[in-house]
Amino acid sequence: MTSATQLFLVTLSVLFLSAIPVALAQTAAPVSGAEVYQKRCAACHDQPGNRAPARDSLQKIPAVRILRTLDFGLMMGMPTR
Ligand code: HEC
Repeated sequence: MTSATQLFLVTLSVLFLSAIPVALAQTAAPVSGAEVYQKRCAACHDQPGNRAPARDSLQKIPAVRILRTLDFGLMMGMPTR
């Protein structure tokens, strides 16, 4: 076997091996929105007596508006409802 062939084979196996973690990551369990909500949002949004709208109110808000609020906050002068 020439050293060029050996180099080629080594390169090939490195390429294949480096693809394994990517393949594994793609089979990871999908993120649960309910879990994220419990962990990151419920502490305010499921507490009576603060201004945060409760979960059933949030559920009536279109996803695109929730994303906009998370990205930019509530914007003055923007229609929110
Ligand atoms: C530290 C407390 C706190 C946490 C944590 C929190 N929020 Fe809020 N959120 C509020 C408060 C208070 C308001 C009301 C703001 C206002 O009306 O001025 C609000 C408003 C919102 C609104 C705007 C509703 C509207 O009328 O447009 C959305 C959407 C929202 N929160 C989503 C989330 C999501 C999703 C999470 C979790 C990823 C989250 N919030 C976590 C306190 C919180």
